[in-house]
Amino acid sequence: MDGYAVSSDLTHQEYCAFRDFLEQACGIVLGENKQYLINSRLRFLLGELGIKSVGELLVMVDRPSSAQLRQRIIDAMTTHETLWFRDQYPFEALKRMILPGLVRSNIATLRIWSAACASGQEPYSISMICEEYRREYPSRALGTVQILATDISPTILQMAREGVYDNIALTRGLTQDRRERFFTEENDKARIKPEVMRQVIFRELNLMQSFKSLGKFHVIFCRNVMIYFSDQLKADILNRIADVLELNGYLFLGGSESITRYCDRFEVSRAHGGMVFRLKS
Ligand SMILES: C[S@@+](CC[C@H](N)C(=O)[O-])C[C@H]1O[C@@H](n2cnc3c(N)ncnc32)[C@H](O)[C@@H]1O
Repeated sequence: MDGYAVSSDLTHQEYCAFRDFLEQACGIVLGENKQYLINSRLRFLLGELGIKSVGELLVMVDRPSSAQLRQRIIDAMTTHETLWFRDQYPFEALKRMILPGLVRSNIATLRIWSAACASGQEPYSISMICEEYRREYPSRALGTVQILATDISPTILQMAREGVYDNIALTRGLTQDRRERFFTEENDKARIKPEVMRQVIFRELNLMQSFKSLGKFHVIFCRNVMIYFSDQLKADILNRIADVLELNGYLFLGGSESITRYCDRFEVSRAHGGMVFRLKS
């Protein structure tokens, strides 16, 4: 689509209409003057559709049976940036503090939710931690581990399910030791081993939808996604997360995200260099 002329002159009305569409569809709030972002993220899609403006795109998205188009716009506008063992501390806290506590409580099936999992690095890192715990403490029986990994984007979920990563993705946060232990090399890529994969189930879920069908979790990772949402939606999601956490269950947010202004159902503590949020009894 090189050279395709997309109009960069979004009218104020088109800008507001697109902003409303995006917030209603996936919760992402665009601040003022983000015209450049819309243009750069949608340029390829507009070119592919043979249309020249976001206004035309909004007319198309209003038509019945536009579900796929809506999905493609959300895909284009969302950020899927992620890496292995992101920020380290949640994974250290899981291995050194949370898993030992759950083993002591004789939990038969440990349920963990990675609530905006992008291309899978977060849930697979959790799964590797559980495998490492099993190897390091063979006498302590860690029961069955079920990791539910969800995201709004079916495209990114498909990549996550395949579990194959290129060298650039593999260098981000992964030690050579873990690469050797948990991946099988395939040319210049590497594939997650079945023992890591089999503990993870991927499913499409928009965080604006109900969580009731998910069941309860001992630990929830909801990291680096709520930063894009309004304060009202953050409060709503945090309350619904609290509803699906087991008593005294743990929540991890992104390193720059907090809870205090939005929800008082958690106790905050420091662990392994970061914040952990624990559901109050
Ligand atoms: C920046 S990535 C974070 C990935 C991972 N949690 C981490 O911290 O590395 C944000 C992810 O949130 C997803 N996302 C955005 N809005 C969402 C929504 N309303 N519901 C579910 N997932 C959403 C995006 O598709 C993207 O994959």
